[in-house]
Amino acid sequence: MDIQQGSLNDFIIVVANESHAPYAQQICDLIEESARVRGTGIAKRDPNYIKKKLVDGKSVVAFDGERLVGFCYVETWGHGNYVSNSGLIVDPEYRKHGLARSIKKEAFDLARNLYPDAKVFGITTSGPVMKINTELGYMPVPFAELTQDEEFWKGCSSCPNYSILQAKERKMCLCTGMLAPSKNEELKMKLDLSNQIITNKKAEKKPAALQTATTPTSEDYKEFKTVRFATDFF
Ligand SMILES: CC(C)(COP(=O)(O)OP(=O)(O)OC[C@H]1O[C@@H](n2cnc3c(N)ncnc32)[C@H](O)[C@@H]1OP(=O)(O)O)[C@@H](O)C(=O)NCCC(=O)NCCS
Repeated sequence: MDIQQGSLNDFIIVVANESHAPYAQQICDLIEESARVRGTGIAKRDPNYIKKKLVDGKSVVAFDGERLVGFCYVETWGHGNYVSNSGLIVDPEYRKHGLARSIKKEAFDLARNLYPDAKVFGITTSGPVMKINTELGYMPVPFAELTQDEEFWKGCSSCPNYSILQAKERKMCLCTGMLAPSKNEELKMKLDLSNQIITNKKAEKKPAALQTATTPTSEDYKEFKTVRFATDFF
């Protein structure tokens, strides 16, 4: 396929399964090569680790026909209180066509469905990733709001900027920390909004002015509208 003329519909983006296990090495090579080119310290991945992510259905793969062109996986931290999407990679020949955005969306949904109580987070220096994360509802946060799981931060030790992270006592580094609510937190937020609407209905029943007036005046209706507005805003 001529990638210049192709559209996102030409790719298959799916949650991985055991049939994708043979692609583990290729994924590791893609990640390592990209890190080398960027001069950044994306943690080197063990093919067996990636293979398990594929087999366990904890990753997303993108294909152009038989060719693997993108990948991202899900990992939990801090006793399952946090989940991250890691190892996002798009084959250099297939970049800037929206593949990362589609893969990340799929991986984000996968993470939140597998671990509905876990907050989703990531750290990145990548402008495109920050942009995609923002679209998905992540907010930039200080590192203190991310997982404090030692295993996660150990992953930074292969980064050339690790000494900065250490010098700053893990409070900050060149990466931006980004955090999105868990699936259940988001549902609860929606529920909270519903509570506001119920309150609104009570208010709608009878504003104070209407309770005393036999025939409502235009002033009474002004109050009635104000009550509605004040609660609608939430
Ligand atoms: C970062 C990466 C995954 C982006 O993949 P991609 O498929 O090219 O990204 P998309 O096409 O979905 O682009 C998403 C947005 O980022 C922008 N973008 C992508 N690459 C960009 C670049 N090099 N410079 C500036 N903007 C870029 C796109 O224009 C798009 O924004 P828009 O829709 O507003 O135009 C890819 O470059 C990559 O694999 N890099 C190496 C590994 C890496 O850095 N992983 C992230 C680790 S946190």
